[in-house]
This record gives sequence, C-alpha cells and structure tokens, in this order.
Amino acid sequence: MNFLIRLSNSLQIWLLQHPSSLSDFIMRFFYVSDVLSYSLVTPQKFLLKRQQLLGQNFAALGRIIIGEYNLAAKIIAEPQQRAPYIGRFRCIPDRFSRHFLLFLSDQEVQGDDAHQKARQAVWNVALGPALKNTASPEAQDLLHELATIAHTNGNPPNLDDIGDDIQRTVVQYIMFVLLGVTLSPDQISDLKTLFFSEKPRKSLLVSKVKPLAPPANRLDEVKRLEDIALAIIEGSPAVCRYEPGAEDDMSRRELSVLLMQAIAIAGCLGSESLVRSLLTKVPPDLEIDLDNPYEVLKVVLETARRHAPVNNINTVSQTAMTVTINGRKRNFPKGTLLSANIGLANLDGSFFKEPLNFDPHRENLLAALNFNSVGEAKRRECPGRGIAEKMGSDLLIALRSKAAARNHETPCMNANPSESP
Ligand code: HEM
Repeated sequence: MNFLIRLSNSLQIWLLQHPSSLSDFIMRFFYVSDVLSYSLVTPQKFLLKRQQLLGQNFAALGRIIIGEYNLAAKIIAEPQQRAPYIGRFRCIPDRFSRHFLLFLSDQEVQGDDAHQKARQAVWNVALGPALKNTASPEAQDLLHELATIAHTNGNPPNLDDIGDDIQRTVVQYIMFVLLGVTLSPDQISDLKTLFFSEKPRKSLLVSKVKPLAPPANRLDEVKRLEDIALAIIEGSPAVCRYEPGAEDDMSRRELSVLLMQAIAIAGCLGSESLVRSLLTKVPPDLEIDLDNPYEVLKVVLETARRHAPVNNINTVSQTAMTVTINGRKRNFPKGTLLSANIGLANLDGSFFKEPLNFDPHRENLLAALNFNSVGEAKRRECPGRGIAEKMGSDLLIALRSKAAARNHETPCMNANPSESP
C-alpha cells in the first residue's frame, strides 16, 4: 500500500511537470482512483497517511496538495485563478450556475468582475442580513433541541445515531437564518436528501462531479428536488424583496440557483462537519467561560483548526514554482493545478506548536486558515464565517449548559430518591 502511494505520487509529479493532452488524459485515472479512495477512507485518513509518508506537500487527486502552512497561506492570500473544482472533486461546469463563486477567478488573474458581483449579490440578499437572525428564538430553539438530543445519546453522543438530527438541524437553521424560511417536515426531508445524500441521482453535488455524475438523462430525481428547493428559495422573504439593479444584475431565478448551490455546497456541508466535531471532539473536561463570547469562539476556532470542515482550495499557479515533496525540491510550470490544503496546513507542526493538541489558548490560533483567509487577506474569505462562528458558539453554550444542568440534577436525585416521581 505504501509503495503504491509513493508510486502514484511520483507518477503524478511527473505528469504535472510535463503537461500535454496525453498527460491530462492519463492523470484522469489517478484522479478517479484517488477520489474514490479519499471518499472511502475519509479525507483526514487519506491526507494524514500521505503526510506521514511524503511530508506536508505531495501529488494526489491529479494536483499538487500544499499542506505546508507558509505556502498554503501565500496561495490563499494572493489573487486566485480558479478552475471547475470543488474540494476533492473535478466538476461538470455546465451543471452549475454560471455565477458559481468557487469557479470564478479574481480580476487580477484572468478573471473579470463576475466573482465580485456574484459575491456582492449573495451578501446583500442573504448573508449580510443573516447575522441578526442567529439571535432569534427560532434559531436558538433549533440548537437547544439538538443539544438535548445529543445529551440523550451519550457523552460524546454516537454520531451514527444522531446524524439525521444534525442534518435536519443544519438545513432548518441555515434556511431560516439566511432566507427567513421555516420549512415543513416534507421540505426538511427533501432538502436534507438534496444537500446531504451521497447518491449520485439525488445529491445536488455528487450529480455534478466526475466520475460519479449520472448521464444527463438520469437526473430526474435531482431535478425534482432542485425544483422544490428553488421554489422555496425564490419565494423566501429574503429573495422576494430582490430586484436586479446596476450592481446586482442577475435575474431573481439566477440568484436563486446560485443561492441554492452556495447554501448546499458551501453552507450546509461545512456547517454539518463543524457541528459533528463540536459535538464529539471538544474535550469534555475543558473549562470554558460561557459568559465570555470570545472564549467560546476560541473553542469553536480550535475545533475547526484541529478538524478542518473544508480542506481543498483549488487554484491554478500563476508562475513556475518549486515545492518540496518528500525532502526533494520539485519544479512545476505555470498553470499547475494546486490545492492549498487547509486541513494539513492547520496541522503543520512547523507553524502550530503541538498541532494535534486541542488548545484554544494557542497564541497563533487566529492564523488558522479555516475560512479561506489569513490575516488581513480576506478577498475570498468564506462570507458565511460570522454565521458559522455564531452557530458554533451558540451550540457549544447550549451543550455545556445542558451538561451543567444535568450534573447539577444528578446528585440531588441520588440524594433524595424518594422525591423522584
Ligand atoms: C453558515 C454557513 C456557511 C455559509 C452560508 C457559507 C458560504 C460560503 C460561500 C458562499 C462561499 C464562496 C465564497 C467565494 O468563493 O467567494 C464559501 C466559501 C468557503 N467557506 Fe463557507 N459557508 C458557511 C460555512 C462554512 C464553514 C462552517 C466553514 C469551515 C469552517 C466554511 C469554510 C469555507 C471555505 C474554506 C471556503 C472557500 C472555499 C473555496 O474557495 O474553494 N464555510 N462559504
């Protein structure tokens, strides 16, 4: 197995160093084999295995994976040329909105103003006004209900038992906070399938990526679910008010398609992963001052650093570059596909001291690349960052408050068993 991983790394390096239509064609086989293995063994195992064998940087998934903190941070800070890739996947671009943010390059590097305009429209209509909705009783109730369910399923809860509840909560929370929509039980079930199913004919994402996407004539079910989602989004309080203007020149339908894809792929999948880690990976004996919002936020950020919800930021190199792989300097031409890997960079021991330790007080916690930004370089920062941080903080407070209430109750019940009903 180790031999095969090393061989695949060496061959992919060679193919990337010698770009041609033939090497592109051969590379597809490596992509398919890696993407299947990445999905089967889980991203963290796939990446950490290669990190252990080859170091912070290596070739996999048909690209150069950059896990060295300084280089990944540089890629994230600079203007980005994009190609049709999302996370681990190579995508079928014409199955996406032409305004889909992750595929649009920055203006300085072969782009135009399309990314900035689409991002502004999404911000103006949904993401900007959303933060105040996180404080509403409806949003808080959803997180409290999930905390209660988690507590009745062990400490830490068994994720196999409550995976469904997590997905329902994330769908309801995001649709309410971003769009002002309260979903019916049928709508929750349909959106949960569309956003989270791994079945190529039902999943919004998997139906659009290589090698799993079904042919165009086998997309009936995903189209049915997308029509339901679009009707909800187009009729939502947030989108109803939208009129195309000089700045936001998308039609209401186009904006709804973009929002549906951004909510499903960028919003719900990242948030689900963050919630799963908050429920199971925060050390139970870690003391947190729940009255101090910054202390709580630091625990959320350390959870995201230690267990990155989003890993691969895919860009195209603007110059020839040298990358150290397995101790050797390797040269790659301009135009090489790169993935700045947040998960690996956040665990780079040359930047984060004792990177595997869970320490929300580490001095450079804020330098973690969780949200595709670093320091003041925020041009492509996740615009849902504030909402994800607030959701994570409120969930943590709900969980800890429930735990405190339970610890408080238990001795009294034991001390006075006759008072129990
Ligand atoms: C409320 C939930 C969220 C919403 C609505 C949201 C929305 C978005 C959107 C619209 C983008 C595209 C930005 C652009 O290209 O200009 C994006 C990118 C991104 N988001 Fe989020 N997000 C959410 C949660 C999260 C979470 C929990 C994480 C991880 C901690 C995360 C990490 C990222 C990253 C790393 C990117 C960059 C991806 C790339 O450029 O390839 N997001 N997000």
